[in-house]
Amino acid sequence: MEILPLHSIQNIMSLNVFDNLTALKEEISSWKPNDSEALEIFRIRFIGTKNILKPLMGEIRNVPNERKKEFGQLLNEVKDLAETVFQSQKEIFDASNATGNSLHLDLTAPGEPVDIGSRHPVSITMNRIIKIFDRMGFVVAEEREIEDDWHNFSAMNTPADHPARDMQDTYYLRDNSNMLLRTHTSSVQARIMMSQKPPIRIIAPGRVYRNETISARSHCQFHQVEGLYIDKKVSFADLKQTLLHFSKEMYGPHTKIRLRPSYFPFTEPSAEMDVSCFICDSKGCNVCKYTGWVEIMGCGMVDPQVLINCGIDPEEYSGFAFGMGIERQAMMLYGIQDIRLLFENDVRFLRQFTSAR
Ligand code: DAH
Repeated sequence: MEILPLHSIQNIMSLNVFDNLTALKEEISSWKPNDSEALEIFRIRFIGTKNILKPLMGEIRNVPNERKKEFGQLLNEVKDLAETVFQSQKEIFDASNATGNSLHLDLTAPGEPVDIGSRHPVSITMNRIIKIFDRMGFVVAEEREIEDDWHNFSAMNTPADHPARDMQDTYYLRDNSNMLLRTHTSSVQARIMMSQKPPIRIIAPGRVYRNETISARSHCQFHQVEGLYIDKKVSFADLKQTLLHFSKEMYGPHTKIRLRPSYFPFTEPSAEMDVSCFICDSKGCNVCKYTGWVEIMGCGMVDPQVLINCGIDPEEYSGFAFGMGIERQAMMLYGIQDIRLLFENDVRFLRQFTSAR
């Protein structure tokens, strides 16, 4: 066996001591306690009065002079590391105990995925409509769903004997009550005209209620978007251009519109607006019932009597208004066959819709 000179033996010993310290340092850095027992074992091993770092101090004797400083520094580093790691793991441990979670909380573990959900198709459709009118300078106005008879009907020029007032259509809060669930968003027109001076340019989205039999095609609650524009010299041509622009933005640049004469108590003249069928490109399908047109909204010039009712002088101002249902548009856009799906909140149905809007 080869006999090593003394200084070589010292070098090997000191090398071992350095290796030992480096190994301990790695052990400490990657240590994670599973329970309070492991925490205590670590404390005894590295921090307690009989910790294993202490005897290593004595090893400094065997370290060559030129490396003594390096050894001292490394030893201190390992001691400090043990203290810090112990304290931080203990804090994590105490915190998880305080929350009743006795399991070790691993902050480095990947998080639980957050279920972010998706927007409701009615909201997506409504937001698209609002955005288009927003770009034309219409401001969103939101109002109450529980209305009084005056704002919902009288102000909107709906005479007391009008069929729309019939108890069968309207949900009154009590028999003979003056309060009701609004049957249309046109009530917002009255609220805004009573509280603001022209020029007025609003878009009013919201939920409305009608006492109707629930079926695949109709529901007792649905959503509308109302528009109102009052200023000096507003004409029917303004209404037509506004609605044409809206239709092209909503249903594509090649969309055509047609206005059919109609009747609403609050507009004169009144019209029903159809757009060329965007499903079949007006070739004929079951959505447009082979006519090439689909009905989207009611509209017209605000009846002068409505302006008077709401304190606006019809000699000075004129305006147009329109109102459209959302559900039917959402159903056409997404090919939904049954309106009830929109109110059941079945996540298997809702998950199919995604939108950044
Ligand atoms: N309020 C009407 C409805 O619920 C829709 C409507 C038609 C609103 C014509 C209007 C309008 O503002 O001018 O059927």
